[in-house]
Parts: sequence; structure tokens; C-alpha cells
Amino acid sequence: MALFGKSKNNSAEVNPAVLPVHIGIIMDGNGRWAKKRGLPRKAGHSAGAKTFRKITRYCSDIGIKYLTVYAFSTENWKRPQDEVNSLMNLFKSYLEEALADFKDDSIVVRFIGDKSQFSEDLRNLMTENEESSKDRDGMVLNIAMNYGSRDEIVRAVKNISADVKNGRLSEDDINEQLVSDYLYTAGQPDPDLIIRPSGEYRISNFLLWQSAYTEFVIMNKLWPDFEKSDLDEALNIYSGRNRRYGGV
Ligand code: FPP
Repeated sequence: MALFGKSKNNSAEVNPAVLPVHIGIIMDGNGRWAKKRGLPRKAGHSAGAKTFRKITRYCSDIGIKYLTVYAFSTENWKRPQDEVNSLMNLFKSYLEEALADFKDDSIVVRFIGDKSQFSEDLRNLMTENEESSKDRDGMVLNIAMNYGSRDEIVRAVKNISADVKNGRLSEDDINEQLVSDYLYTAGQPDPDLIIRPSGEYRISNFLLWQSAYTEFVIMNKLWPDFEKSDLDEALNIYSGRNRRYGGV
């Protein structure tokens, strides 16, 4: 089934029957983009933040219901201190702007990951963004910050075992659905499609449990160069995949 048809006014129209419900994006290649231009890595992250904004809005416009972007992993703290600082400043200024920018928008903003390691300023901004958008009815945007899938699974296992100990759960209640319900993405559908720009063939500790049957599309574009047309291309590739979920 074709993903794009022509509407009456001759513009591209997405066929909702083959549109993924949930897309994940590993926003990779910012550093290489900056290096190619002789710029500091932080310039790549700023350019990446602009792309993030553009693609988020586009996903919401074409009817994607859930978008999860990988902004900062539990391993990214190992980067040089000044790169970590510039990323924290970027998150802060972005989240301040997002509050204003997304005010009239329908996007629901959620953060997945361990917030406790961020500064109080940043944590407050995260909470404000979540609180002010929680009753909206549009696309859910999960921003993965200080997120690591193994860390998420360990946290789920600890919480399940605490709930067995305190009697809220019995061992017999533990099944795949229950584990899903203890993850940051509880209540959300698993990603149908994960896109990784910049040509790397790795999952990098992103949505490991949730991506058991996800389709992967690797693209040879660095994230700051990623255009709406690249998303269209990924969606087209996805629409041609035959998803069997282990069946025939
Ligand atoms: C990976 O590229 C990218 C990151 C670690 C940071 C991603 C963050 C943004 C795009 C900022 C926007 C996000 C928000 C929420 C404002 P890399 O630096 O590893 O690139 P490289 O592999 O080329 O070195």
C-alpha cells in the first residue's frame, strides 16, 4: 500500500493505514556534522536541536501519535565536561522556549529517564513542561534524557520486587505486560519504527524491551541535516516492510 497519495489540492497526503503509531529517533551525528564544518561539537548539538524541533512538529502534523527522541543517554555523562555543560545549557534554553512555543500546541511532553541527576532548574523545567501539557490531546513526545534501557529495566525489576515484598503484587502477576507497565513508557504502544540517522548500525541502549518487534531504518544523513523529506523516506521504507511478529 502506498504511503503517499495526492490530495485534491495536489499536495502529498499520508495514508494513515501504513503510518507508524509510534516512532523512535536516535538523534545521532551532531558531533560529526560540526567537525565537518570546523565547528565545536556544541554547534552540532544546537543545529541538532533545530532539527529536533522541525521534525517533532512535522510528526505531529502528519498524525504520528507517539514520538520518542533520544536526547541524552545514561552513558553521555562520560563526555568531556564542557560538552556535557553545553548540552545542559541547550536543554535548559530549549525547555524554556518550549514552554512558550508549544503553548498553543496540542503536543503532550513527557520525559523518560532518571531525572534525579539533573540540576534543580532543569528538573523544574521538565516538570513544568509535563504539567502544562498533560491534558492536551495531540502527539505524545517522549524526550529521553539520562535514559538508558538497561537502567530502565533494572529500575522496573527493583520496583516489581519491592511490590512483591510489600504484598501489592504476587509472583504470579509477573508477565510481559506487567514488566511493560513498570517501564517509563507504561501505557504507550511499543515503537513501530526506530530511525537512526548518521549511518550507525547500533541500538545504543535505546528502548531495548520496547523494540522487540520494531522496524529499524538506518539513514546516511547526519541528524542536523535531516529533513522532512528524510522522514518521508523512512516512512516509505517502513510502509514496504512486512511485519510478521514472529509469525509467517
Ligand atoms: C548524538 O550525536 C547526540 C547527542 C548526544 C545529543 C542529542 C541532543 C540534541 C539533538 C539536542 C536536542 C534535544 C533537546 C531535547 C533540546 P553525537 O554527538 O554522538 O554525534 P557524533 O556521533 O557525530 O559524535
